[in-house]
Amino acid sequence: MTPVSDLNLRPMAEADLESVTELEAQAYSQPWNARIFAEELSQQTRTYLVIEDNHTVLGYAGLMVVGNEAHVTTVVVHPDRRDDKLGTRLMLGLAAEAIAQNAKSMTLEVRASNEPAQRLYRRFGMAPVGVRKKYYQDEDAMIMWVHDIDGTAFASRMAEIEESLR
Ligand SMILES: CC(C)(COP(=O)(O)OP(=O)(O)OC[C@H]1O[C@@H](n2cnc3c(N)ncnc32)[C@H](O)[C@@H]1OP(=O)(O)O)[C@@H](O)C(=O)NCCC(=O)NCCS
Repeated sequence: MTPVSDLNLRPMAEADLESVTELEAQAYSQPWNARIFAEELSQQTRTYLVIEDNHTVLGYAGLMVVGNEAHVTTVVVHPDRRDDKLGTRLMLGLAAEAIAQNAKSMTLEVRASNEPAQRLYRRFGMAPVGVRKKYYQDEDAMIMWVHDIDGTAFASRMAEIEESLR
């Protein structure tokens, strides 16, 4: 299996939407369809990345930057490739993109029961700050934030995470 640091990370394109929506349906009970992704891709404030091995999409992640705030809209990894740091690599890509677009904070909502995702986000310094009741109809969302992503402490954290992927 290709090591995660050698996998290709690149912007999502319309041509990826068949693979992306397949992964989406495996990941979420209320998946976005290709039309919704196409609409997202068309918006200037959005950045979507895919991670691929030999032209096979293994995961993707999205970001919306408004003002100084970056909102992570999604992170998904192929069920057979989870717990192998692909999510970490996608988050590194999103964080770099957020900083490049002058964001100072990063936030997201995550299911209260989603331990793997929360672990991933904690690694990036994201801390729970509140709960949105029944955000997912059947479950509450935990709201997580990390601030000062343009500072040296966050840069060191990212460098350390990047190093751990080698
Ligand atoms: C959440 C998700 C993107 C994580 O991606 P991943 O590639 O498996 O994550 P990584 O391998 O980079 O691991 C990230 C952290 O989660 C932990 N983790 C991964 N899978 C885990 C599991 N099944 N149980 C517990 N912890 C787990 C890892 O140990 C790691 O923690 P560490 O850095 O402290 O060691 C992936 O599980 C997924 O696609 N889930 C379905 C979609 C989803 O829920 N997305 C999040 C929406 S908010």
